[in-house]
Amino acid sequence: RQPTDSPLYTLLTAASDYYRQALKSHPTRKAAVDYLKGRGLSGEIARDFGLGFAPPGWDNLLKHLGGDNLQLKAMIDAGLLIENTETGKRYDRFRDRVMFPIRDSRGRIIAFGGRVLGDDKPKYLNSPETPVFHKGQELYGLYEARKNNRDLDEIMVVEGYMDVIALAQQGLRNAVATLGTATSEEHLKRLFRIVPSVLFCFDGDAAGRKAAWRALESTLPSLQDGRRARFLFLPEGEDPDSLVRAEGTDAFRARINQHAQPLADYFFQQLCEEADPRSLEGKAHLATLATPLIEQIPGNNLRALMRMRLGEITGLTAEALAQMTQHAPATS
Ligand code: CTP
Ligand code: MN
Ligand code: MN
Ligand code: MN
Ligand code: MN
Repeated sequence: RQPTDSPLYTLLTAASDYYRQALKSHPTRKAAVDYLKGRGLSGEIARDFGLGFAPPGWDNLLKHLGGDNLQLKAMIDAGLLIENTETGKRYDRFRDRVMFPIRDSRGRIIAFGGRVLGDDKPKYLNSPETPVFHKGQELYGLYEARKNNRDLDEIMVVEGYMDVIALAQQGLRNAVATLGTATSEEHLKRLFRIVPSVLFCFDGDAAGRKAAWRALESTLPSLQDGRRARFLFLPEGEDPDSLVRAEGTDAFRARINQHAQPLADYFFQQLCEEADPRSLEGKAHLATLATPLIEQIPGNNLRALMRMRLGEITGLTAEALAQMTQHAPATS
């Protein structure tokens, strides 16, 4: 899928080494260290995830790694430098940011996310698409989670870098993040090759709830019998990072045990909010919304059970529901 011998890997590793070293010894490091401490991170977890610091200035990395024209071109290809197309001037993409290296499943550094130390915009700056980084396919923290435990039974999917790291610091070392892109069918296929159970835990805000429904849609085609997905919805304004730090590991675990909602429950609850099943019109609409989604489920038993539940909610018979689908057996 990716060129195994790309010289970009070497460059990205060298850049990560530079950023890590800068967090340890650059004269301007204090602001970054204070920032990470202020967010409750230990030095140990920062090391585990290879966190670094891109110092302020336009050419720190350029000067450190730069060489001949070929080398500078490669740094541009790797997303480390930006070239101004009008002036031809080259400068560091990441400046005055805390740096999160993004690894592929083999542990190779393929990209970075960089967070501002304050409230400037954009809050996060990510590497662009490059020959070794395809944003929509990667899961931040997957390498680290598997490295810690080869025998995971559930993976938690969250939104952000800090969610993954804060959970890991609190002992919940099975979280991965989609990095601002929607959870895709491809993501789910990868996850279900590793674990039989996926737990979605997005931010307690409108964007997080929307992301949850999209994640459900992406999960349906992977739901063979024996697999499951669950959803944990957080209180308004919280994300996994803020919540696990506020309430601690045990309370967070208890929250998962008590409130993680099975996919099928969330499915019908959400659809019943969109189409009110108290009226016949609502029931009809509900069946129209639910049927094409249910039919995407490959697990014969789960699919049959969800059809039955839809029948219970709407009062429509199995025959009537079957007639709605393209692949319905001839019933008359
Ligand atoms: N994101 C991004 N670019 C942005 C904002 C967000 O790439 N300008 C991605 C990042 O991966 C981020 C995730 O979307 O981690 C979730 O966004 P958000 O909830 O806004 O950020 P947090 O991770 O909660 O950021 P923080 O706690 O550091 O404020
Ligand atoms: Mn590409
Ligand atoms: Mn958010
Ligand atoms: Mn956050
Ligand atoms: Mn968040």
